[in-house]
Amino acid sequence: MGEAVFLTLIALHVLAATAWVGGALFFVFAVVPASRAAPGAGIPDALGRAFRPVAYVALGTLIVTGPLLLMLLGISPGMLLQGRFWADPFGITLGLKLVMVVLVLALTAWHDAVLGPRAHRAGEARATRIVGRAIGLLSVAILLAGLLLAQGL
Ligand code: HEM
Repeated sequence: MGEAVFLTLIALHVLAATAWVGGALFFVFAVVPASRAAPGAGIPDALGRAFRPVAYVALGTLIVTGPLLLMLLGISPGMLLQGRFWADPFGITLGLKLVMVVLVLALTAWHDAVLGPRAHRAGEARATRIVGRAIGLLSVAILLAGLLLAQGL
């Protein structure tokens, strides 16, 4: 029973990671170059709006399933308060992963709520592109950190 729940949560976590990271990379490597080739066509804005519900559901799924996975791995909230938990390889990887997750959440909010709409209005998308790339890069690093966690590292 416990194993079935764990596998279900891992499946949801990995599917959500695929949607989130895949979406971020698609924007960096396809949408941005396409919008450079056809400036003023509103490509990033239209695609961003269409994909946003999927991206937000994926991110929400990761934030919910991640802590549940930790619980099922036997890591209680009390353990997280002990300094030595964060000193072994699993704790260090998890700590780095969580810092990057917080950064991605903050950058995504800034990108979607402030920079994106401003770029659409003013036609100047440099800052939005830089932050978008940072989100893509961090998301790949988070995914790799997840692979290490799954190995117990
Ligand atoms: C953008 C957010 C995230 C992404 C892209 C992501 C991605 C991944 C990936 C790809 C794996 C590997 C799964 C496997 O190989 O079986 C993984 C594992 C894991 N993730 Fe995440 N994750 C995210 C957020 C979180 C959060 C917020 C937490 C916890 C608070 C978390 C906790 C874990 C744990 C504990 C594992 C290891 C599970 C195991 O032992 O198999 N993740 N993650």
